[in-house]
Amino acid sequence: MPPSRTLRTQVGIVGAGPAGLLLSHLLHLEGIESIVIETQTRAHIEERVRAGVLEHGTVDLLNATGLGDRMRREGLVHHGIELRFNGRGHRIDFHALTGRGITVYAQHEVIKDLVAVRTSAGGQILFEVAEVRIEDFDTTAPRIRFQHDGEDCLIACDYIAGCDGFRGVCRPAVPAGALRCYEKVYPFGWLGILAEAPPASDELIYANHERGFALMSMRTPQITRLYLQCHPDEDLSLWPDDRIWDELQRRFATTDGFRLNEGPIFQKGVTAMRSFVTEPMQYGRLYLAGDAAHIVPPTGAKGLNLAAADVFVLSNALAHAFRTGSEARLARYSEICLRRVWRAQHFSWWMTSLLHRFEDASGFDHRRQLAELDQVTSSCAAATTLAENYTGLPFTLPGEYS
Ligand code: FAD
Ligand code: PHB
Repeated sequence: MPPSRTLRTQVGIVGAGPAGLLLSHLLHLEGIESIVIETQTRAHIEERVRAGVLEHGTVDLLNATGLGDRMRREGLVHHGIELRFNGRGHRIDFHALTGRGITVYAQHEVIKDLVAVRTSAGGQILFEVAEVRIEDFDTTAPRIRFQHDGEDCLIACDYIAGCDGFRGVCRPAVPAGALRCYEKVYPFGWLGILAEAPPASDELIYANHERGFALMSMRTPQITRLYLQCHPDEDLSLWPDDRIWDELQRRFATTDGFRLNEGPIFQKGVTAMRSFVTEPMQYGRLYLAGDAAHIVPPTGAKGLNLAAADVFVLSNALAHAFRTGSEARLARYSEICLRRVWRAQHFSWWMTSLLHRFEDASGFDHRRQLAELDQVTSSCAAATTLAENYTGLPFTLPGEYS
């Protein structure tokens, strides 16, 4: 069936998450046209509760590309985190160890800023599309088919960016055997809440406790974000608010009487935990970016930051290709991104292993975990490794890479 509507652009972007929207913005700054298509509504993507921590490189990129106004006003700059175990807290001082910090600013706020900047620049984002299919991306004339407003639509483009997250359609469209996937699924998940209560500490607290891991983060000086380790398919109906607060208070308890501030819980959800990498992150003229290409467990706060680093490299390589006709930089896209991705995979796996309770762990495993926490919180070299990885590696471009 011929489409009832045909659109033409330089880069067709599938998915309006951080990867897709930031790519569209960076391409626009390079004078390159793109169209973003998204299955959800604008309200849905602007309200979806996800990440909260931005590395200094992500913050620098948002500032340098005109996306930093609200983040600078409303984001919370942190210079360290606390690791809590055996009833005591130990601060890792990022600023003293690396000279850098992180910014706590919710992912959906980044999304709102991106949608606003794209919309005001006349950028096209088509929401509520359905039946998305990508075609001919092994030729120089890739196409994206989908339904929108009851019409069969087609985007003809030069390149496709698959920014459609872990469960999207782009990665599965690549012929079997062309991509190699590496995966590790963890035997636990996180139950996350948002509560109307001031954070009980100015910085994030990562707690290793015999009842399981817990994390205290925040969104604003009035809103606390809290997580506790649970079963991957935990039934939320078994977790009334009182039980959640009771469990959290136990896992954060210290010998000197620390208490979380409690308040009305207005959001609850369970997240499964997985490590996943696709190699390469490209097939023909399809480039995968963000969660479509890799997933990390959230303990290292890396997912959104990896998505930003991917599209920083991709936008530069695409701009070079349109400007010069050479695909030399695009040919290095996977290699450059995957180096950072695997370092983030290692860090996220390490933080997860260090802080969670594993059901099959022996007494030996537990003592070894505590010895490692002791080392990280007392050795400057070990603490610096954590601080460097948490605050983030520098963003690298094809021309600067060795
Ligand atoms: P997504 O955000 O998943 O966006 C993909 C988009 O594509 C979605 O809008 C989806 O609706 C759309 N889509 C899907 N299929 C199609 C289709 N067929 N056609 C069109 N559109 C489609 N990361 C951090 O860096 N720091 C943190 O502190 C952190 N904390 C986290 C806490 C939790 C509880 C969770 C769940 C994640 C966390 N992350 C964190 C990870 C981070 O949220 C993700 O890595 C990030 O959203 C990836 O962005 P993305 O654009 O690649 O994918
Ligand atoms: C969050 O604020 O949602 C958050 C912070 C740190 C993490 C994961 C999530 O490691």
